[in-house]
Amino acid sequence: MKKGKVDALLGIVFGDEGKGKVVDVFTPKYDIVARFAGGPNAGHTIIFEGKKFVLRSIPSGIFAEDKVNIIGNGCVIAPDLFMQEARELESAGYDLRSRLHISRRAHLILPTHRVLDRAYEAAKGKNKVGTTGKGIGPTYSEKASRTGLRVGDILENFDQKYQALKARHEETLRHLGYTDYDITDEERLWMEGVEYMRSFPLTDTEVEINRALAEGKSVLAEGAQGTMLDIDHGTYPFVSSSSTVCGGVCTGLGVPPSAIGEVFGIFKAYSTRVGAGPFPVELFDETGDRIREIGHEYGAVTGRNRRCGWVDLVALRYAIMVNGVTQLIMMKSDVLDTFPTIKACVAYEKDGVQTTDMPYDTEGWQAVYEELPGWQTDLTRMTSEADFPQAFKDYVDYLERQLGVPITILSVGPDRAQTIIRG
Ligand code: GDP
Ligand code: IMO
Ligand code: MG
Repeated sequence: MKKGKVDALLGIVFGDEGKGKVVDVFTPKYDIVARFAGGPNAGHTIIFEGKKFVLRSIPSGIFAEDKVNIIGNGCVIAPDLFMQEARELESAGYDLRSRLHISRRAHLILPTHRVLDRAYEAAKGKNKVGTTGKGIGPTYSEKASRTGLRVGDILENFDQKYQALKARHEETLRHLGYTDYDITDEERLWMEGVEYMRSFPLTDTEVEINRALAEGKSVLAEGAQGTMLDIDHGTYPFVSSSSTVCGGVCTGLGVPPSAIGEVFGIFKAYSTRVGAGPFPVELFDETGDRIREIGHEYGAVTGRNRRCGWVDLVALRYAIMVNGVTQLIMMKSDVLDTFPTIKACVAYEKDGVQTTDMPYDTEGWQAVYEELPGWQTDLTRMTSEADFPQAFKDYVDYLERQLGVPITILSVGPDRAQTIIRG
């Protein structure tokens, strides 16, 4: 962490890498924690002192009482879900009003955006993306087509703007033949959420962040989703709709590229993906089921099964390149504790051709593996690198050699305390 810089902490695969946990661990070193992309499609889990929280829109730095947390302009926000999430934190004793700042430029997810999300998915038939149903795609589409509503809009003539946009959505839904929905209760809660949001500082967060940087303060940008779900660099069209990569930090917070300091890339000791789309390392066998069971690989918000497989070095190398990752953080190492052998995908193969570069279209590629010995030791109680079994150290060395970036943090359990920072 350098003063006057924005460090980025990014999921570099398909999301759910453990970003929430690490942001919470890192927060004491920073002045500001900021979310720059995504919305309530995220579910970031934080566990400490026997308590568990799952955050969707609120940054994971919120548990350190003296830090400012920012929801940046690159985010999309659903007032009803935001209210629910914030109230949970308030009832757990966290004071949010003074230190959770929301960008006026962030876009609003309307109840009808969520209906549109469902309608578009239904219309796709077999080619469904498997979205979280939170209205993410329709809201970002509307941002790009310059018809969306922003947080700043709730401060003036809001009802009129809301009704006009809702009417347009209803018309689109009629065109799609998607008319069997009722948002009456949802809309009431949503409006209550809008009122609730008005009591928060709705600010020009880009100015606030740049001022803080000029004063020598430090900022941690908390990623959402992961590089393979990025709108430009992910497995399009099976992606989310925002810039989840390092470039997204600049646009999503309004900071220049020269302000970026360290880029932490988070990945799991294995791979997961939730939702549809190509996933060359997916295991359909007992091993995949075992990883899911041991790793509790079910969506933090949606509860859906996460698809599981071995670590994918092709995807990791690509993500390291696109993001300029300077340090790697490996999560959930403990999930592989009982496996006699571990595999790593070193290349993809299709029609007898192998590649170590990320193909334009990952559909139809098979993973090519290298096999390594497992460590068959419980890592969860280990508190320093010196305790690690040799086979685990060898796995970490192997990954570092393959990826060319140091792994500086190893996570060996979900709790804040189960985090080993390497010397
Ligand atoms: P995020 O979206 O990147 O913040 O990650 P999620 O919270 O969706 O998913 C990560 C899951 O793994 C959560 O349930 C965490 O509590 C859990 N977790 C994080 N780190 C570890 C770890 O090192 N070991 C184990 N077993 N679980 C972990
Ligand atoms: P966090 O921040 C994992 C996936 C969805 C779907 C695709 C598009 O917790 O890592 P969307 O609702 O965004 O239009 O869905 O992206 N997806 C995630 N997968 N973790 C996430 O967030 C995700 N956010 C979206 O499953 O395949
Ligand atoms: Mg998650």
